[in-house]
Amino acid sequence: MAVLLLVFVSGAAALVYEVLWVRELGLLLGNTAHASAMTLAAFFLGVSAGSWFIGTRADRVRRPLIAYAALEIGIAVTAVAGFVGLRAVQNGPAGFVFLLPPTILMGGTLPVAIRCLVSDATMLGRTGSRVHGVNTLGAAAGAWLAGFHLPVWFGVAGSVCAAAGANALVAVFAIVTQRAASSAVEPSALLLDVLRYEAGLTGTKRGCDMGTCGCCAVRIDG
Ligand code: FES
Repeated sequence: MAVLLLVFVSGAAALVYEVLWVRELGLLLGNTAHASAMTLAAFFLGVSAGSWFIGTRADRVRRPLIAYAALEIGIAVTAVAGFVGLRAVQNGPAGFVFLLPPTILMGGTLPVAIRCLVSDATMLGRTGSRVHGVNTLGAAAGAWLAGFHLPVWFGVAGSVCAAAGANALVAVFAIVTQRAASSAVEPSALLLDVLRYEAGLTGTKRGCDMGTCGCCAVRIDG
């Protein structure tokens, strides 16, 4: 549940950046359609690249919530730097480049979040759907906030900082949650699952599930 809350806030922050980015590029390009097209192209390119590059490595992460926190901090830093850079260069096409670093990191958040929650491959479909659904709900909330409220309350620069603050809060909660999880293992958890998914010791596998192949055998104390 805690991870889903983090995924919701992360999705909201992502869409706050995206809506504000369209606004900034619209002012520079003088055309909202071009600004939207450039933002969406950069956003989807970055997210797909990050999802592929980081997602294919997510299974090897030993402490997924710490990795998730690092991604959130990276998003906050690169998103703020991108807005500052865009205003400094005043060049619309450069906005495409500035938007790539945070969106690549955003693309990595969902695979890592799913890795935080999945301890058994059979749960992948259900958990993955849940994570994507909650993230999209957060994105809808972020788009609504950035479109109608945040710039009125805080101005554009303040809204970017608010989204970065949300990313930072998510990172802090992810670290706290990881610490709590590290010190608590469910009494009913299988040693195989704890070793493989909590400790990241992937040499132990579930093979036949019938006690014949030996894939799940663990030698203790030599
Ligand atoms: S999975 Fe084959 S013996 Fe355990």
